[in-house]
Amino acid sequence: MDRLLTNIAETTEFIQSRWKAQPRIGIILGTGLGRLVDAISSPQRFPYEDLPHVCSSTALDHVGQLVCGRLEGVDVVAMQGRLHAYEGYSFQEITYPVRVMHGLGIDRLIVTSASGGMDPQHKAGQLMVLDDHINLMGDNPLIGMNEDRLGPRYPDMSEPYDQKLRDMAFRIAREHKIPLQRGVYVGVKGPNYETRAEYRFFRLIGGDAVGMSTVPETLVARHSGMRVLAITTITNVCLPDNLQPVTGHDVVQVADRASRDMLTILRGVIRQEAQQIQSELFP
Ligand code: HPA
Repeated sequence: MDRLLTNIAETTEFIQSRWKAQPRIGIILGTGLGRLVDAISSPQRFPYEDLPHVCSSTALDHVGQLVCGRLEGVDVVAMQGRLHAYEGYSFQEITYPVRVMHGLGIDRLIVTSASGGMDPQHKAGQLMVLDDHINLMGDNPLIGMNEDRLGPRYPDMSEPYDQKLRDMAFRIAREHKIPLQRGVYVGVKGPNYETRAEYRFFRLIGGDAVGMSTVPETLVARHSGMRVLAITTITNVCLPDNLQPVTGHDVVQVADRASRDMLTILRGVIRQEAQQIQSELFP
């Protein structure tokens, strides 16, 4: 496990030697949402291939770079494209960038994604704040010897998604008249979309949306004590008795169309958290 700590130190030093800042907020941009980095000013880009110990992104519409810069007056680190288990990477590999964010001092993580909506009220293009999740990925990034210097062996998951950040997202959505759903996200490994029987099963066990990400990053973020807000774009509505075929390109297009609403909420949350950080630093 010393190896993990050494690797994290090497990656963070690589970034810090080129970008002098003290970020507290991290953002993971999922499918169709990569353009949100355009809102970041004075960007410093680090393609994953250039970063020591970080794997390359191969997923559709995932650029695969860390974009560091200013958003709403604070230093942020955004992953433009994430890593997925279906790319063949281990759960430790896909969550390594979250370890690096923590190493850089980030203690608030905003995770975005695309997902299939299973609530009959859902409409494609709507956003959903995660209240909770069900890990059906068949794996866990925290498996293996625990590094106590990073977090506890048995992390609590009674509130994986921070209540204050969730409330804030709803306040901002209301102010901007953005319809916002809330619900339980089911994490699966992918890469195929689900069968009718699987959607029916996920709904039955309490799921509102299903996707191929978010859960591993949240587990590692919570292990490190970070506060997490996760918002997913419902890109396709998956009603088992009326299931329409879906492609990766459909998913990207719908998520892209919803990215304005996503950005409005992210900016609002970051602005308010920036004030909170300021008042903590200079009470
Ligand atoms: N299932 C899993 N992942 C997804 C879906 C889906 O229907 N839509 C977008 N990501």
